[in-house]
Amino acid sequence: MKRLWLLIFAAWALAATAQRTETLLQEGWRFHLGDAENAQSIEFNDKDWEIVTIPHDWAIKGPFDRKHDLQKVAVRQNGETLATWKTGRTGGLPWAGIGWYRTAFDVSKTERTTLLFDGAMSEAHVYVNGHEAIFWPYGYNSFYVDVTDMISPDGKNNTLAVRLQNREQSSRWYPGAGLYRNVHVIQTKEMHIPVWGTYITTPHVEKDYASFRNAITVENPGDEPIRIVNIVKYKGNEVTRIEKSIRVKENLPVVLNLTIPSPQLWSPETPNLYESETRIYNKEGQLQDTYVTSFGIRTIEYIAHKGFFINGMNTKFHGVCLHHDLGPLGSAVNESAIRHQLSILKDMGCNAIRTSHNMPTPELVRLCDEMGFMMMVEPFDEWDEAKCENGYHRFFKEWAERDMINMLHNYRNHPSVVMWSIGNEIPNQWKPSGLTVARFLQDICHREDPTRPVTCGQDQVAAVLENGFAANLDIPGFNYRTKFYVPGYDKLPQGLILGSETASTISSRGTYMFPAELKNDAMYDNHQSTGYDLEACWWSNVPDIDFALEDDYEWEIGQFVWTGFDYLGEPSPYDTDAWPSHSSVFGIVDLASLPKDRFYLYQSKWSSKPMLHVLPHWTWPDRKGEVTPIMAYSTYDEAELFVNGVSQGRLRKLSKTEAESLRGKDSLWLQRRYRFIWNQVKYEPGEITVKAYDKNGSVALTKTISTAGKPHHLQLTCDRTSLSANGQDLAYITISIVDKNGNLCPHSTNLVRFSVNGEGTFRAAANGDPTNLDLFHLPQHHAYAGQLTAIVQTTKKSGSIVFSAKAGGLKGSITLKSE
Ligand code: GAL
Repeated sequence: MKRLWLLIFAAWALAATAQRTETLLQEGWRFHLGDAENAQSIEFNDKDWEIVTIPHDWAIKGPFDRKHDLQKVAVRQNGETLATWKTGRTGGLPWAGIGWYRTAFDVSKTERTTLLFDGAMSEAHVYVNGHEAIFWPYGYNSFYVDVTDMISPDGKNNTLAVRLQNREQSSRWYPGAGLYRNVHVIQTKEMHIPVWGTYITTPHVEKDYASFRNAITVENPGDEPIRIVNIVKYKGNEVTRIEKSIRVKENLPVVLNLTIPSPQLWSPETPNLYESETRIYNKEGQLQDTYVTSFGIRTIEYIAHKGFFINGMNTKFHGVCLHHDLGPLGSAVNESAIRHQLSILKDMGCNAIRTSHNMPTPELVRLCDEMGFMMMVEPFDEWDEAKCENGYHRFFKEWAERDMINMLHNYRNHPSVVMWSIGNEIPNQWKPSGLTVARFLQDICHREDPTRPVTCGQDQVAAVLENGFAANLDIPGFNYRTKFYVPGYDKLPQGLILGSETASTISSRGTYMFPAELKNDAMYDNHQSTGYDLEACWWSNVPDIDFALEDDYEWEIGQFVWTGFDYLGEPSPYDTDAWPSHSSVFGIVDLASLPKDRFYLYQSKWSSKPMLHVLPHWTWPDRKGEVTPIMAYSTYDEAELFVNGVSQGRLRKLSKTEAESLRGKDSLWLQRRYRFIWNQVKYEPGEITVKAYDKNGSVALTKTISTAGKPHHLQLTCDRTSLSANGQDLAYITISIVDKNGNLCPHSTNLVRFSVNGEGTFRAAANGDPTNLDLFHLPQHHAYAGQLTAIVQTTKKSGSIVFSAKAGGLKGSITLKSE
């Protein structure tokens, strides 16, 4: 294969010591959609294949088509027994099929070579120089393989080929397609610490010191004692070290113990991280390997009847569930995009993430460590019984233990991980066989990581309370079914209940339906759901119910809301052939990363930051004189509304007792504990103002919304003005169509065209409308509810980036710095 020019593959060395190098294979891959005979061989001619950069998602460019996921199925999770036609369930994108990737890499022949895949979607066959190195079916898991024996004699120009296959009906959401996560080449000496070869715990933590225990695996240690040094560093400075000469038995880890003085604890508020540097020397005293593990020091306790405690502090999980796709970027991992999502969630007061329903990418876990999020890591949506005809159940018996071990070894050093989940709404929870599988999986967790408890997302709560399934788990996790929380707590032995998946409230950004009332499964001609945060599916509920459970019961340890962000696929309640609906409306934040009103409802409850948010918008030319309720979400307990200067009443958030006294008289009795609701307001154009009052009765915050005039220009904003010139950093630019006074024009849906000059390229756009068929990667996109998002990626050169947007005569531009 004559294509040395492709050897610009090596993006950068992640860790480079004399003994160990780690390189990402990112640029210059060749990709082919479809099968190709003999494409694993060295001689295969791939010059006509597309050149791509990894991480890569072959399906995200679409086009969208109803036929991509047209299926006649009964979705059992949604209680269906009869098969009906479904569309958009998996995003309406062409992710099913076979894809091949090829590249070439060099290694230095004297060393051992390991390939590490962070995830490959899916059924990956990996070949090196024509030899099959490994098969790994589960697309979400990380896996590695030692390929030393397959490397070319001079170490140069090794052909790496990967065949992937996504079968139709193998997913309930958009799974993405291809080498969507990173591929690493790791070179070590013969004697080395393998991938995930350290296991660090801090069994004792107190103010003055913490114990540190590192179980280190050494490969090819030889028969003589070897010297092992373990240095603990904080912010780059050595804190303590240990040095031992030990005879190591292959496959038996060496356990080193240390005491760390004055530990700086990890918590969501203080995400302090330490580094453990492990060095191994051969009997001649030569350094063979240096292996760095990031870790944190913290205690976690789940105390019956009292709740969850981190570092002794009672803490509720204010969590969200996330699918792995990054909206318009698809599933291709980008650290900057994940950081962007997490920053938005942090701002909301979110402190935890559930990786539903699969292993996360390592970038997400590292960022949760760094930014302070607790994690519930979950591997499966299916065990040995099918939810999808071609789902993971086909592999479960043979692969489940291996998949669990990889997940546990990959992530057990991360302080952010505070709980494992063994699955989500597993059909087997009904049956005795389900309990057997649950025990098998929970035991694997306990064996590989005795420091964290195990939960499972259960939806058949009546059944699992009776059949022992829930009682068997360390922490019983309920998905929805809020009326079972109290009976479940009474019946179960654990003395704690977790809302493993909650809410599934449905809403569309900036879109409001009238009358504003609580509804289940409401469907409208525009295929949207109301922004008043009053609608849910039949199995789900609005946020206030979960807030009340948290407030009223100490033993309720918190929740993971379905979902933090909208995702591709699962457009419930518009999933029964309601094309073009093809993405969710469950998100607190929409597919364009723009917060819906619901974001502020959670923020008012979860964040300590003083805030006030008012809804809906106040531009209703067709509603003059009609009842148009106004709500406000605030951290303050009292608020007053003025419509064109006239007070509509001062309201106080109600106590539990006060709210309950309205039961049967006011359908929004519960909401009045958490929201200010003026539901008799008649629309008149002008200005609405809400004033929030503090405990002393002084005005603490004021918010005004004005009726918008005609669209006048495009207002461009970006949360970052300075970016990294690394070729991967992203800027999310919000484009708002505004009138001459800067008021959002909330009904505008103009087509906006973009151009980028300088050291940036256009990457993708989205508007959060689940029915929108504009292609994400083209530099033009419609606005939805007056707004949209464009994503710009930096080049590797520093300089300024000028992003301009135009919609007919409307214009706007923004300049960013990349350095
Ligand atoms: C749950 C399920 C999630 C998602 C959600 C939508 O039952 O666990 O994966 O489907 O419903 O409400």
